Amino acid sequence: MGKHILEGPLLDSPPPLGSNRKKKWSLSLCFLFAFIAITFVGLTHHGDIGVWLIGDVNSSRYNERLQQNADVVESEEAVVAADDGRCSKIGISMLKIGGHAVDAAVATALCLGVVNPMASGIGGGGFMVVRSSSTSEVLAIDMRETAPLAASQNMYDNNGDSKLNGALSMGVPGELAGLHAAWSKNGRLPWKTLFQPAIKLAREGFVVAPYLGNSIATKAKLLLKDPGLRQVFAPEGKPLRAGEICHNIELSHSLELIAEQGPEAFYNGEVGEKLVEDVKRAGGILTMDDLRSYRVETPEAVTVNAMGYTIVGMPPPSSGTLGISLILKVLENYVSSNAVKGSLGQHRMIEAMKHMLAVRMNLGDPDFVNISSTVSDMLSPSFAKEIQRKIFDNTTFPPEYYLPS
Ligand SMILES: *[C@@H]1O[C@H](CO)[C@@H](O)[C@H](O)[C@H]1NC(C)=O
Ligand SMILES: *[C@@H]1O[C@H](CO)[C@@H](O)[C@H](O)[C@H]1NC(C)=O
Ligand SMILES: *[C@@H]1O[C@H](CO)[C@@H](O)[C@H](O)[C@H]1NC(C)=O
Repeated sequence: MGKHILEGPLLDSPPPLGSNRKKKWSLSLCFLFAFIAITFVGLTHHGDIGVWLIGDVNSSRYNERLQQNADVVESEEAVVAADDGRCSKIGISMLKIGGHAVDAAVATALCLGVVNPMASGIGGGGFMVVRSSSTSEVLAIDMRETAPLAASQNMYDNNGDSKLNGALSMGVPGELAGLHAAWSKNGRLPWKTLFQPAIKLAREGFVVAPYLGNSIATKAKLLLKDPGLRQVFAPEGKPLRAGEICHNIELSHSLELIAEQGPEAFYNGEVGEKLVEDVKRAGGILTMDDLRSYRVETPEAVTVNAMGYTIVGMPPPSSGTLGISLILKVLENYVSSNAVKGSLGQHRMIEAMKHMLAVRMNLGDPDFVNISSTVSDMLSPSFAKEIQRKIFDNTTFPPEYYLPS
């Protein structure tokens, strides 16, 4: 997003070539995306999806929308969509005080790390794609976790579960390095400012949303065994439930230090040292060397075309852009935009998603695996056509059917 982010209307730009084709699909796509959002979010949010999800830059409109339980927000200036409405609002607050879209994204991400700690946070990683509205230049940031230096191919041999749970399953965190890289290039607000809302939430407490509540309930046994987690998520000996207040004082201290000292506090300072100590005690292999040598990557973004749209997104190891492109190309083969409407449309979309998720299994980190043929399959219209031929309107199939041959 460039300088003109708040001036450039997002929806009113002159229609580029191919706009007729877009129009035909756009209504169906609204439905499609709404469905995808509800599918993924609805599974975990049993509360009012609208309330937890969406923020509009115009807060009076925001409140109005919330009261209607709408899951659609419109704005001609800017929209922040996070998987928790409190964080969307924090993003919007950054825009309102003159922040760049990246400032909003950083503050939103830090907030998510507080209210959805099981899903993301400064101990994790991510991807960011920034496209300048003035120059169309795209910056893609790969801030995914990497394997610690002491990791080895057979480190999980004795205990398959350690691949998923516990200190051995973690990577070298990349989120802060990535957010800082994006902010260094585009940010307009002080680094410190972006942290204040998240610090406040962690320190003063926040209401446990249904998403976190479910996660705490599912992991209750593990949580209760760990003194640190127990203190935060079961402060009175009982796991917190949705609607109760959670305080994360230690996290607020870490965020304060990183706000003051920059990512150095994490990658070469006090916060990192504490982390390494904790991880070591829990049986992990993370070292200060790992943290000191962590670097974000800035690969070239991928650009895909589907249904008359150009989609700019993250290249592998992210599978999102290739995945959405493949699903759209499969559905495009139905030609009529009615094809993705109603329950039959949902069936077709779900089947397309199953095939995509199966093909996606052949992707991997391009630094280590040759994925060129899977990538070209996922981008190929004829491959999409082949998948569409395997989708039947009257049935689903056993899992083996979806595996790539
Ligand atoms: C916000 O929305 C309300 C109602 O839709 C409108 O009256 C007001 O002018 C808007 N404010 C801004 C800053 O756009
Ligand atoms: C990757 O695999 C493709 C065929 O699938 C091959 O043409 C290409 O040379 C391979 N690239 C490398 C770097 O090995
Ligand atoms: C499902 O549809 C296919 C082709 O459209 C047809 O060949 C097949 O017999 C149908 N199966 C059932 C159980 O109706």
